[in-house]
Amino acid sequence: MKTYSIALIPGDGIGVPVTDAAGQVLEAAARRGGFALATQTYPWSCAFYKQTGAMMPPDGVETLRGFDAIFLGAVGWPAQVPDSVSLHGLLLPIRKAFVQYANIRPHRLLPGVEGPLKARQFDILCIRENTEGEYSGAGGRVHVGTPDEVAVETSIFTRTGVERILRFAFEQARKRRGKLASVTKSNAQKYSMVFWDEVTEQLKPEYPDVDVTSYHIDAMAARMVMAPESLDVVVASNLFGDILTDLGAAIQGGLGFAASANIHPGRQAPSMFEPVHGSAPDIAHLGIANPIAAIWSAAMMLDHLGEPGAAADILAAIEAATARGIGTTPGKDRTEAVTAAVLSSLV
Ligand code: IPM
Ligand code: MN
Repeated sequence: MKTYSIALIPGDGIGVPVTDAAGQVLEAAARRGGFALATQTYPWSCAFYKQTGAMMPPDGVETLRGFDAIFLGAVGWPAQVPDSVSLHGLLLPIRKAFVQYANIRPHRLLPGVEGPLKARQFDILCIRENTEGEYSGAGGRVHVGTPDEVAVETSIFTRTGVERILRFAFEQARKRRGKLASVTKSNAQKYSMVFWDEVTEQLKPEYPDVDVTSYHIDAMAARMVMAPESLDVVVASNLFGDILTDLGAAIQGGLGFAASANIHPGRQAPSMFEPVHGSAPDIAHLGIANPIAAIWSAAMMLDHLGEPGAAADILAAIEAATARGIGTTPGKDRTEAVTAAVLSSLV
């Protein structure tokens, strides 16, 4: 039987219960689909940091390299470990080490979810550059703590990085409704963003079947609220994509519905799948975390692994649950109840 090896990193807070939910759904989908999952769980988290002084062991990345895919719950527990430490110790190094340069985030309303825009139908696929740009990590501080203190954080846009994410986005648009929105701020940022716009123009002739339009980030933020149905694939830099995908999550009803995939398209390294939401310390012990974002991310993982039928089954099971009003209102249903509702369609 075909077996896929999966590294599970539940992480912190609600990452633990939603990973458990996703794990149960994956098992059910595998049984139905006639394949197997060999899962290995790693306790890398802020609690692990408190014990060992690191978010993962020194060979953590090498340990993960051998897996077919990685599933991550959430990272961060700011009361104990500053976010700048925990994220740079686990999530961000994995994205960079495995060159998971395409962060894919689907935004659409599930049946039964009204959303703040009052059920305006839309289906947006955000593609966020995930390894460089504004989150390159290049910078420094001098004269720390003095009135002369200086902090510099440099955005890095390489031709390799910009071209590959744009090509990825063009390909996605080609598989969908053929529309691509490329998001920059080239009226104000005259080097990096003008460069991004130029690369978009250079690639355009290679994708004559894709209708590409460039937007400024501020106008795109407004468009996602006022005319989300006008959008198909949206591609943006690391920071802009980060912000737009929280906006996307909001219009689809909240972070409890926002799934994501950190893809290494070359497939020489594992890709990582995670809900967009964080560890949510405020609700972490209440048992009410919505597992739908995690379960949807698990479906994206199966799709990437080459099991599109099982992925579609999971999505249909999520939709059957939300259509019955389960998991649609934040805090109303318990994590186990939503998980059970999804599982009931996967027997
Ligand atoms: C996300 C998160 C992370 C990011 C943070 C926690 C570093 O906000 O996945 O969107 O911005 O990449
Ligand atoms: Mn974010």
